[in-house]
Amino acid sequence: MSDSFDAIILGAGAAGLMCAARAGQLGKRVLVLEKAEKPGKKILISGGGRCNFTNIGAGPANYLSGNPHFAKSALARYTPRDFLALIESYDIAWHEKTLGQLFCDGSSKQIVEMLLEECAQSRKVGGDVEVRCNAEVTAVEHEDGRFAVMANGQIVTAPALVIATGGPSIPKMGATGFAYDLARQFGLKVVEPRPALVPLTLGGEELLFREISGVSAPVVASAGKASFPEAALFTHRGLSGPSILQISSYWKPGEEVGIDFLPQSSGDWLLDRKRETPRATLRSVLREALPDRLADILAEKLGIDTELGNASDKALRAAQERLKRWTFRPSGTEGFAKAEVTVGGISTAELSSKTMEAKKVPGLFAIGEAVDVTGWLGGYNFQWAWASGVAAGEAL
Ligand code: FDA
Repeated sequence: MSDSFDAIILGAGAAGLMCAARAGQLGKRVLVLEKAEKPGKKILISGGGRCNFTNIGAGPANYLSGNPHFAKSALARYTPRDFLALIESYDIAWHEKTLGQLFCDGSSKQIVEMLLEECAQSRKVGGDVEVRCNAEVTAVEHEDGRFAVMANGQIVTAPALVIATGGPSIPKMGATGFAYDLARQFGLKVVEPRPALVPLTLGGEELLFREISGVSAPVVASAGKASFPEAALFTHRGLSGPSILQISSYWKPGEEVGIDFLPQSSGDWLLDRKRETPRATLRSVLREALPDRLADILAEKLGIDTELGNASDKALRAAQERLKRWTFRPSGTEGFAKAEVTVGGISTAELSSKTMEAKKVPGLFAIGEAVDVTGWLGGYNFQWAWASGVAAGEAL
């Protein structure tokens, strides 16, 4: 077994496999080292087993990063349409679920199999990709322009090394901060990682909302300048659902989260209801717009228990104002254990946006979730994995 390659890729996830396939098809001899027993484990569980493999509208505005321009080049050179064309060339059936989110009709397994077949195709053009599983990388050294990688007591070498070991989200699946340790070893800065696309927890008086665990409603959730109109779900620990997961990536500890519980209503909705149905109560009109248990708890918190006809216009205006700008002050998040991705990671200031190569360490590359580029919920993170993988794969 040869121990010398053109490039070694650490991690056989979405980014690593894509990068390997592209480099192999350009004639390179590539070794992919994967610590798990099989490649692409996060792909397999993604999208409820159907992999939300891209978002047809993915563009730089859908990503968080210390440098919002960094992702532009790679995303423009490998687009959602390019990935879709690849899927279709393998006759993988797909559908759009909502908001541009594309899923397999069948199973996520088809995506992993396709990526492995793309790797195998490299042999036809003089390249080669070997994916070695059960190979946890424990140490890397760099001498005379070559990287020496230690995995399971064996040493392999190459002039190019790609960090594609992802972020620490879902440690139960073996995810770690290995990418950051390696980056720091080479003097690259790491933007403090935080759990993202993660449920938020509530404490104090807001614990009251636990009573309505399981209730969901269409809202507009906001944190700072970001806002997302989608469903919010109350849980036994706090808040979840797509709109909350989205804003969790923007939320920082100590900050407020705003919720518009009446996204469809405008003007003096409650005053109009008072004129139309003066005998109705706040609770009963809220029940027309929201799930009953949520309407009841909000009405109770607003403290208006008379008929609308007996409430002052001022009080009803103030109540409507609060329902449109309800604020929660989450006590935290459910952490990396429940986070779909990680915000932060290897600083984009250290990398070329064209090739993903480290500016200070020629031959060292970083791609995928390991890098400080994080997508919204809805297929954006895989699109970044594909696009950054291709960018590096073409430069190896
Ligand atoms: P990824 O984590 O996929 O791969 C890294 C690989 O490196 C792993 O296989 C790991 O075992 C390996 N590794 C780590 N340390 C190593 C070491 N020391 N030595 C060797 N190997 C090592 N995104 C999306 O766009 N659509 C979706 O539907 C979903 N769904 C989803 C569901 C769930 C439950 C999660 C947790 C996440 C998602 N995501 C998602 C996010 C998506 O899975 C994620 O952004 C990509 O998998 C990131 O791809 P990477 O290749 O960068 O890392």
